[in-house]
Amino acid sequence: MNILLTGGTGYIGSHTAVVLAQAGHRVVLFDNLSNSQASTVDRLAQITGQRLPLVVGDVRDEALLANTLRDYAITAVVHFAGLKAVGESVANPLLYFANNLHGTIALLHAMQATGVRQLVFSSSATVYGNPHYLPIDEQHPTGSTNPYGRTKLHVEEMLFDLARSDASWHIACLRYFNPAGAHSSGLIGELPNGIPNNLMPYMAQVATGQRAELTVFGDDYPTSDGTGVRDYIHVMDLAEGHAAALQHLGSQPGWDAINLGTGQGYSVLEMVAAFSRAIGRPLPYRIAERRAGDTAACYADASKALTLLGWQAKRNLDDICSSAWAFQQAHTT
Ligand code: NAD
Ligand code: WQD
Repeated sequence: MNILLTGGTGYIGSHTAVVLAQAGHRVVLFDNLSNSQASTVDRLAQITGQRLPLVVGDVRDEALLANTLRDYAITAVVHFAGLKAVGESVANPLLYFANNLHGTIALLHAMQATGVRQLVFSSSATVYGNPHYLPIDEQHPTGSTNPYGRTKLHVEEMLFDLARSDASWHIACLRYFNPAGAHSSGLIGELPNGIPNNLMPYMAQVATGQRAELTVFGDDYPTSDGTGVRDYIHVMDLAEGHAAALQHLGSQPGWDAINLGTGQGYSVLEMVAAFSRAIGRPLPYRIAERRAGDTAACYADASKALTLLGWQAKRNLDDICSSAWAFQQAHTT
């Protein structure tokens, strides 16, 4: 297949590019580089032996997207491009509506104009809001607690209506749980700007000495050790989930939503222990107050992905931590 990855030089997009290129697909990257670098193309070439085309542009540029879809005879799109920082979305919701909603509408117009009807959308477990029960299956009620989450939910709903209006669309919304880790080469991974919001990159920066200690947000949750529990999924497993979804999509018209998680939850202290194993010494941390908006536990029922796509996560917590650490070391000067 000829596959366009919007947001293709970003964290999840670049790992998916590796898996798809190595599976023999023709992969084209489209990114405005607002949260990634053009040099990712060089690193992808080192990993795959292929120089993937990169179109630098914004997904709100409908004409550029339509030309790209035509020029490369694209048959399917994976739509990663978007902003993803929850706190920033609360402070600046219009920025998020413009990027994530307007960006998706422009992409859909361009796809409609060029006859491309297969789309995989990067959704998130955030569309479940605060869990009503665990593990979370795809029937769980949806809701959102912040503007970022609302953009994911609104896009999913737009896509649902679109698929219902025109039976030629094939759309899969993949609801990621907590992506973490890096490619085994250490060449690509997650490198947030500024102070990391998320647990894994924060622990990696504590390990390098860039930050003194991890702040553990709350130890009084109703979980095994009192700290928050999440479903951390290796980014290469996630990437393979996209390949499986694209394979499935060709024969599956309509709209569907599928969880991509491991089905296994780990607490913050279990994550600290795993990262300490990866670095070979105890990671310093201190317990603090709960973070506003956090939930006690969130993990997937991942059985639909197995039944429908034949996909399940293969890598474990130690694989996640050791790959994240290798990448962090290679990118710390
Ligand atoms: P990322 O920031 O590394 O990648 C997103 C890419 O999109 C970046 O390269 C950025 O430059 C690009 N981009 C942003 N706005 C754009 C625009 N208007 N036009 C063109 N390019 C644009 O983030 P990621 O972690 O790889 O996330 C990819 C997708 O997965 C996002 O949609 C995100 O919301 C979703 N997601 C991420 C997580 C997570 O924890 N990382 C969890 C669930 C869902
Ligand atoms: C994980 C656990 C924290 C940092 C977020 C978004 C979500 C999704 C993935 C995109 C929690 C604890 C964290 C720290 C800590 N993104 N923690 N100290 O909150 O599950 O999900 O990223 O869709 O929408 O909300 O991930 O990595 O921030 O937190 O103790 O410095 O680690 O309290 O229990 P979260 P996270």
